[in-house]
Parts: sequence; structure tokens; C-alpha cells
Amino acid sequence: MKNDVERILLTKEQIDEKVKSLAKEIKGAYKDKNPLILCILKGSFIFTSDLVRALDFPCEVDFMQVSSYGSGAVTTGELVIKKDCSTPLFGRDVIVVEDILDTGVTLSKLMPTLIERGANSVALCVLLNKPERRTVEVNADYIGFDIENEFVVGYGLDYAEKYRNLPYVGILKREIYEK
Ligand code: IMP
Ligand code: MG
Repeated sequence: MKNDVERILLTKEQIDEKVKSLAKEIKGAYKDKNPLILCILKGSFIFTSDLVRALDFPCEVDFMQVSSYGSGAVTTGELVIKKDCSTPLFGRDVIVVEDILDTGVTLSKLMPTLIERGANSVALCVLLNKPERRTVEVNADYIGFDIENEFVVGYGLDYAEKYRNLPYVGILKREIYEK
């Protein structure tokens, strides 16, 4: 697995530090709101589990798996809900936790859907942001790291369902996905 990584972009230590500072920021705004932390599967399962353990105030956790039809360049595709959360969103303060904000297509569809369900507020927290790749405007409230336009794996992120269990974020060798 390690041999498929070109170089480590973010170490476990850098990520841990960032998770702590994001949790502190989130606490400032949400400590009395019992927010619903909505983990977007599968990529953010590790980030979410570290983040919620860094939140030292009451919150709830639920899970959703979504995708959007069409390629990154297509902005008209429908949102596909592969797994839905079980918590009613009405009146809730929701924090969507996502692994990476890339083109923005998926999240640009998901966020309004959550508002339509009656959430009181919907914020977005992403570990990674690739600003260069954006085709649709999406506003993230909490961003871990802005990164270059490279394909990264580890800490929950996959290539063809592999590498999620690497403890760091690394740049995948091109030969792996171009072969
Ligand atoms: P988008 O913002 O709608 O383009 O979709 C973002 C999704 O694409 C993320 O949730 C990831 O699953 C996947 N993705 C985008 N960039 C990467 C990457 O560099 N590594 C692994 N997955 C990625
Ligand atoms: Mg993926």
C-alpha cells in the first residue's frame, strides 16, 4: 500500500493538530446547540470519528451516503441518496462533515436538500479543499487544509475503495490510476 504513495502530504500529527483546532472553532459556535454531525460516507468516516472525539460538548452523529449522476463538469445531475440518515432534521443545527471538497457538485446538491427537510441551519466542514477543481460554488464553513490539484488517498479517502486505512493523507502515484 505504502509503495503506491508518491509522498505524504499530511502526516497523522498535522491532521491531529488540525482536527483539534477545527473542534475548538466548532465549539465556539455550537456548544449549546446539540448539533447533528452528519458524516458523509464513506470518505469522512475517519475524519468524523476523530472530530467528534475532539468535541467536548453534547452532539449527535448520523450518516448519509450520497453521489451525483454525471461527471464533475455536469452540474445538472440528480442527487442520489444511497443511504439516508435516520435522524429527523427538522429544527436541527446540522454540520455536514465531508472528506474533500473537489468540484463541489455533490455538496451543492446535498446542502439545499437538508435545508428543504427543515434543518434550522446547515454548515459544512471539510478536511480537504481543492479550490482549483471547483466547477460549482460551495461555501465551506470549516476547512482543514487547502491542497493542490493532486489525487490523494488515506485517512478515509480511497482510490477504487483502497487506501482508506492509511493513517496519513498521501499523493497517489499516477501510475496506479493511469494504468
Ligand atoms: P465533488 O466535490 O462532488 O467533485 O466530489 C467530491 C468527492 O469526490 C469526495 O467526497 C471524494 O469521494 C471524491 N474525491 C475527490 N477528490 C478526491 C481525491 O483526491 N482523492 C479521493 N477521493 C476524491
Ligand atoms: Mg471516493
